[in-house]
Amino acid sequence: MTALTLSTAAAAGLRADAIVVGVAKGAKGPIVAPGAEPVDQAYDGRLAAILETLGAVGAEGEVTKLPAPTGFRTPVVLAVGLGAAPESDGTYSAEALRHAAGCAARALAGAKKAGIALPVAGPEAVGAIAEGTLLGAYTFDGYKGKGQNGGKKGDRGGAKGGKNAKGPLAEATLLGVNPREAAAKAALGRATTVCEELNRARDLINTPPNDLAPEAFAALATTAAEEHGVKVKVLDEKALAKGGYHGILGVGSGSSAPPRLVRLTYRHPKAKRSLAFVGKGITYDSGGISLKPPNAMETMKCDMSGAAAVLATVVAGARLGLEVNLTGWLALAENMPSGTALRPGDVLRMYNGATVEVLNTDAEGRLVMADAIARASEDRPDALVDVATLTGAMVLALGHRTFGVMGNDDAFRTAVHETAEAVGEASWPLPMPEHLRKGLESATADMSNVGERMGGALAAGLFLREFVGDDIPWAHVDIAGPAFNEGSPFGYTPKGGTGAAVRTLVHLAERTAAGEVL
Ligand code: BES
Ligand code: MN
Ligand code: ZN
Repeated sequence: MTALTLSTAAAAGLRADAIVVGVAKGAKGPIVAPGAEPVDQAYDGRLAAILETLGAVGAEGEVTKLPAPTGFRTPVVLAVGLGAAPESDGTYSAEALRHAAGCAARALAGAKKAGIALPVAGPEAVGAIAEGTLLGAYTFDGYKGKGQNGGKKGDRGGAKGGKNAKGPLAEATLLGVNPREAAAKAALGRATTVCEELNRARDLINTPPNDLAPEAFAALATTAAEEHGVKVKVLDEKALAKGGYHGILGVGSGSSAPPRLVRLTYRHPKAKRSLAFVGKGITYDSGGISLKPPNAMETMKCDMSGAAAVLATVVAGARLGLEVNLTGWLALAENMPSGTALRPGDVLRMYNGATVEVLNTDAEGRLVMADAIARASEDRPDALVDVATLTGAMVLALGHRTFGVMGNDDAFRTAVHETAEAVGEASWPLPMPEHLRKGLESATADMSNVGERMGGALAAGLFLREFVGDDIPWAHVDIAGPAFNEGSPFGYTPKGGTGAAVRTLVHLAERTAAGEVL
């Protein structure tokens, strides 16, 4: 990941590949944002005019490169658009800064060092610019070119960057911030930790499914967690059978790679609250016997994004030393068709004892999640959040950038939605209409795994609700839309795995530790 520092050095003297400045949409053309004053002065106060000549308007995400002023030790000044002019107090929103820093970092892929002279009004701005930079700079190109091992047999690359890859911006320094200022230092430290874990989630999501079967995921999760003092327990297929986890086992039964259930535990001695996170970890979703059409399968390595987000959240929470107890559950299985696979018509006895008739093997996420949610409920957490790329219907409802939030407790669901808003993640609350519960009835078993097609995302939520322990506040986060970016990169969001929900869940843990929720 990009190495990020704070500095009060003068822009002119910085040895780097580029100095990043901000430009916003003024009433009469582009305006240069605070932080860039020394750069502007070196252009004789003409930076805004020069940018206007070059066609810049200050639109969000706009990147304009110009030769640095005489005497500068960097060859280039990179002006990045901040969008609308600032609030009346002259400050920019955290999300505008995050977005702009992300665009700048992405435009600087392959560069060694950048000086960032964006407006830093306080620690919140430092955190936002740091996050934007660290997330926007992310690349995943270990599978390009010859790979890590010179293309030898068994060389499957890695996330660090293959030989033919540009790699991320190596180093950046936020100018205008005293590295000894405690609040700024803390904001940078927090951002670095969260982004390291979020980028770990992205690496896992982007890793091809032939390199990330449940066992491999569990092993990587174990290493990451133990490195940071998080306790890990992995249930293998034998333990799952002994425990009666037939939802997870059923989904995994078609694959030659057996399923796993991973429990991550972080405890703080002063914690007053506990949160459980449950993540969907389908390492590949072919649909099973209810096979998906080829185009719908192309991105289905992303079907473990919920589990990746839960791992990132618990490890980040531990690294930040949050005063809250966190338990993460990763429900890992590969959904494949075969002679041993689940059939439409099979009945499974789930972990909580309820029976489910599997009418569509492509509705596998709710089966693995149901077992994990029921198990997580046994620990009686103060609240439970599940995260899953659960339904295509959610993508139809909210598109590719917004995740849906449902739940059994309006206040808790609202808290999750508002927490997402606070960190710059788009989400929206959705209802769980009781009348849709009828569609989940089965002639043979207690329930069917599919309900009415219309409102499919809500029916999936209703299915999961059945497995939540009594009186546990629960929120269901369906990230099927934003988990994986099939389009072009934007802001601090790269192509591929995005790390959706990680920043929301980490902040929810922070807010819970602070007694702001529950
Ligand atoms: N993993 C998919 C949902 C999905 C779709 C995630 C698109 C990301 C992008 C899930 O397992 C699935 O296949 N759901 C089915 C459920 C249906 C059979 C009731 C769906 O949404 O079509
Ligand atoms: Mn599916
Ligand atoms: Zn799935």
